[in-house]
Amino acid sequence: MDNFGHFDDTSREYVITRPDTPWPWINYMGTEDFFSLISNTAGGYCFYKDAKFRRILRYRYNGVPMDDGGRYYYIKDGSTVWSPGWKPCKTPLDSYECRHGMGYTRITGVKDGLKADVLFFVPIGHPCEVHRVRLTNAGPAPKHIQLYSFAEWCLWNASTDMENFQRNLSTGEVEVEGDVLYHKTEYRERRNHYAFFGVNRPFDGFDTDRETFIGLYNGFDAPQQVLAGTSGNSVAHGWSPVASHRLDVTLKPGEEKEFIFVLGYVENPADKKFVAPGVINKEPALGMMDAFASVAQVEAAFAELKTYWDGLLSRFCVQSSVPELDRTVNIWNQYQCMITFFFSRSASFFESGIGRGMGFRDSNQDLAGIVHLIPERARQRILDIAATQFPDGGCYHQYQPLTKRGNNDIGGGFNDDPLWLIFGTVAYIRETGDFGILQEPVPFDNKPGSEVSLLEHLKISFKHVTDNLGPHGLPLIGRADWNDCMNLNCFSDNPDESFQTTENKTEGSKAESLMIAGLFVAEGRDFAELLERISDKTAADVKAAVADMESAVKAHGWDGEWFLRAYDYFGNKIGSHECKEGKIFIESQGWCTMARIGAEEGLCDKALDSANKYLECEHGLVLNNPAYTKYYIDYGEISSYPEGYKENAGIFCHNNPWVIIGEAMAGRAEDAWRHYQKITPAFTKDQALRKVEPYVFCQMVAGKDAVKPGEGKNSWLTGTAAWTWKAVSEALLGIKPQFDGLLVEPCIPIGTYRIHRRFREAEYELVIHQTGKGGKVFIPYKPGKQELEINL
Ligand code: BGC
Ligand code: NOJ
Repeated sequence: MDNFGHFDDTSREYVITRPDTPWPWINYMGTEDFFSLISNTAGGYCFYKDAKFRRILRYRYNGVPMDDGGRYYYIKDGSTVWSPGWKPCKTPLDSYECRHGMGYTRITGVKDGLKADVLFFVPIGHPCEVHRVRLTNAGPAPKHIQLYSFAEWCLWNASTDMENFQRNLSTGEVEVEGDVLYHKTEYRERRNHYAFFGVNRPFDGFDTDRETFIGLYNGFDAPQQVLAGTSGNSVAHGWSPVASHRLDVTLKPGEEKEFIFVLGYVENPADKKFVAPGVINKEPALGMMDAFASVAQVEAAFAELKTYWDGLLSRFCVQSSVPELDRTVNIWNQYQCMITFFFSRSASFFESGIGRGMGFRDSNQDLAGIVHLIPERARQRILDIAATQFPDGGCYHQYQPLTKRGNNDIGGGFNDDPLWLIFGTVAYIRETGDFGILQEPVPFDNKPGSEVSLLEHLKISFKHVTDNLGPHGLPLIGRADWNDCMNLNCFSDNPDESFQTTENKTEGSKAESLMIAGLFVAEGRDFAELLERISDKTAADVKAAVADMESAVKAHGWDGEWFLRAYDYFGNKIGSHECKEGKIFIESQGWCTMARIGAEEGLCDKALDSANKYLECEHGLVLNNPAYTKYYIDYGEISSYPEGYKENAGIFCHNNPWVIIGEAMAGRAEDAWRHYQKITPAFTKDQALRKVEPYVFCQMVAGKDAVKPGEGKNSWLTGTAAWTWKAVSEALLGIKPQFDGLLVEPCIPIGTYRIHRRFREAEYELVIHQTGKGGKVFIPYKPGKQELEINL
């Protein structure tokens, strides 16, 4: 079995040891407004705030060859042309290494005695990428080489950049001044922003016109200027503007030289746009160039970035006997939670940055992974999300990060959406104790003057469910619930319409969801507790509605061995032994067992047993079983997927933690731990089969009905990050934040372990011994340090 890399836990890095990974293995850079995606061969792009509207580098998804386009360095050493990251030249390297770390990537290539070590990172406080290129001549003879940089500009809107060529091919504009190449397309009219790529020493040549640099019929692998060792000194007018510097470098044997490149973004105030007609104000760009003019400055900025991540990742640490668990909990899961929080589902190597902005339900769930790390940002996010809600409790399914305005681009009317606002807010208040957020005024649909308190938003979220009950007293599903592809009111027979946005037939619909029912019970209980804490009288009504829902689930949602999944438009059962296909689904087993519905009667244990019997396979729990083998017009998108993929019986990792938590709540430690190990990438044995990064969760792993079970897809941006975090930190390791303290209630078969937990102004050092007697310990919140040894 081939391995493509390994973990370096001390440095918090994943080390890739060969460039031809089974899929580009990427990393993210940026913590504020400027973000980058970078693959292990330096492919990818960057953008400012919004991957659609402020795209800085052009990128072509799913290209041939895969992952072409990025920020590239070329070295011409005699007749050999190579790149430190192997691509795009693909000249065989004498050695290669890529280290993906916390917010940075470092790629080192060695060829013919020349070592090129390129550190890429996005510094804190500056909207730019910094590239430190360190060249070392390890050979016995002097080297005279040419070093080229290269980046291709996107004309800002990543969507029109790919489709509106009658306009695009005429709009490109650049300026060249000093050591900096500026991209200023459309700056003249409505825009106030430009990008730049500069280097900290005078260059020996440059190009800004793609055709001049690469040649019309060459590829990124063989730019004609690089092959010739020249530069065209071209100034782009229209067509495709790029940025390339050429540095002629001489290195004595043993000599090392460092060059600093800065690729940045600038917005100018309206009155400071130009210094002369048509000439951009370059002051902010030059300021950034100055900030990274010396190696010492770069090192300081890099150290600052490290300190930032060290600080975050010192808030929750586990020390156990299982290295895979420790590295997942202490490093990669928390890192992925941060990345997913930043990007929601917008930009990965599977998400193009164009289609989806910030999801209402997605972003609320993502909060659970970061409230303990960046509570202030969680707070703002909750208020932003709530502001996209409608007065009846419904909401836009997504909003655009740049404008924070909701839109219907991926549909609306998903009846689970409102409840996630309660989920996110409860997670935030339990972590922070900030009940004050409930009194923040928040508008509806961002309309000034419509503000009510966040608490009112939560109340109408809850009410949205009770206002929309179906014939069995269960929640109507609307367009869909958490499973976007369970489209019970859609009846689409036109392949040209989207399941997400096409007109729904909700009038007269009997389509009800057991997943929403479980979510309502679980979140309703938390909500009632929250209301009681603030002495709000409506707590009793909430409790009564929860009790009614429990009764409805027991009366109409139990199939004998497991929980039903739904009722369809006509009131027929889905996820029942009576069905031909799709007899059992994971979502309702997860949510109803997390809500402990019918636990006393043994329903939860039975449902979990059934999940293990019918849904579990080698790589995790599949979403449904048996898979749908044909398209069902009454069910929609779910049955449009081939068997074993995506929502049709794929291992949709996001929902596996629901079962893990359900198992833990039922005290079934072995089952919970087994499910956790199966979906956690650090335990992956076969990296080539998994295909996607072995250091982050992916949305979906092909299920047992697939042609290639075990193959992963859609890595990085997935609710799996926050949910596995919740599962491992709270359900398995048992550290559960409460409104007034921490509850310690582990359920993991690993004996003794230590936890360091920062909780508000408290630091807890816990040694937990699981002696087999079980139970829980409540630690009331008290600022300061506390060391505790707990035997359970
Ligand atoms: C995918 C879902 C996704 C939805 C909305 C569907 O095609 O299968 O996972 O949530 O699109 O973008
Ligand atoms: C991905 C979407 O982002 C999420 O909102 C949804 O719940 C799942 N797919 C399941 O369909």
